[in-house]
Amino acid sequence: MIRLEALTGHHDRNGFDCGEALLNAWLQQIALQHQNRGIARTFVAVPADELVAHAWARSGYDVEADSILGFYALSAAFVLRDDLPAKKAKRFPRQIPVTRLGRLAIRTDMQGQGLGRLLLADAVHRARAAAQAVGSAGLFVDAKNTGAARFYQHYGFLPATGQPLKLFLPLG
Ligand SMILES: CC(C)(COP(=O)(O)OP(=O)(O)OC[C@H]1O[C@@H](n2cnc3c(N)ncnc32)[C@H](O)[C@@H]1OP(=O)(O)O)[C@@H](O)C(=O)NCCC(=O)NCCS
Repeated sequence: MIRLEALTGHHDRNGFDCGEALLNAWLQQIALQHQNRGIARTFVAVPADELVAHAWARSGYDVEADSILGFYALSAAFVLRDDLPAKKAKRFPRQIPVTRLGRLAIRTDMQGQGLGRLLLADAVHRARAAAQAVGSAGLFVDAKNTGAARFYQHYGFLPATGQPLKLFLPLG
């Protein structure tokens, strides 16, 4: 029903709304530039094909074949040991290479249906595969707010000591 693929100029970025203006603006104005420059890789969830898009449209969703249902972005990054949960940080040097989950968002009318979980699982899978070739201790995220932080904790991310919006999922 849903396909996950790398963002291209063919996707309808302007039609996306997750309810967070900054995340919408990043997708609409920055994501493709960063994709083309290798700064961040953005992956989007889209209807698997035209038939699926039509089926959604018949159920009342404003969806077309090029609609973005959700997205996330990954980049290479360094974080400081203090940005990790103290228990994990003990094992690492002062600066630690990680994979940063920069953004994750689902369009408002499709939130709460398991899409966020699907995209997060895909991000973990890609980060783990990439870490086999280029060292990365784990997936790191700066959550936008405590609600988003709870979502990541639900899936095993651990908050940094004293910094509950910085979360880490070891990949090792
Ligand atoms: C946060 C967000 C990505 C979650 O995606 P979603 O598709 O709505 O979530 P799902 O339906 O996949 O939910 C998966 C699980 O997470 C839980 N969950 C979802 N949002 C949650 C929240 N804010 N707090 C705690 N748990 C949450 C669900 O209850 C569900 O649990 P279950 O599997 O035990 O039933 C989505 O709501 C969103 O895009 N929000 C706006 C943008 C945003 O805040 N992004 C985070 C940026 S750091």
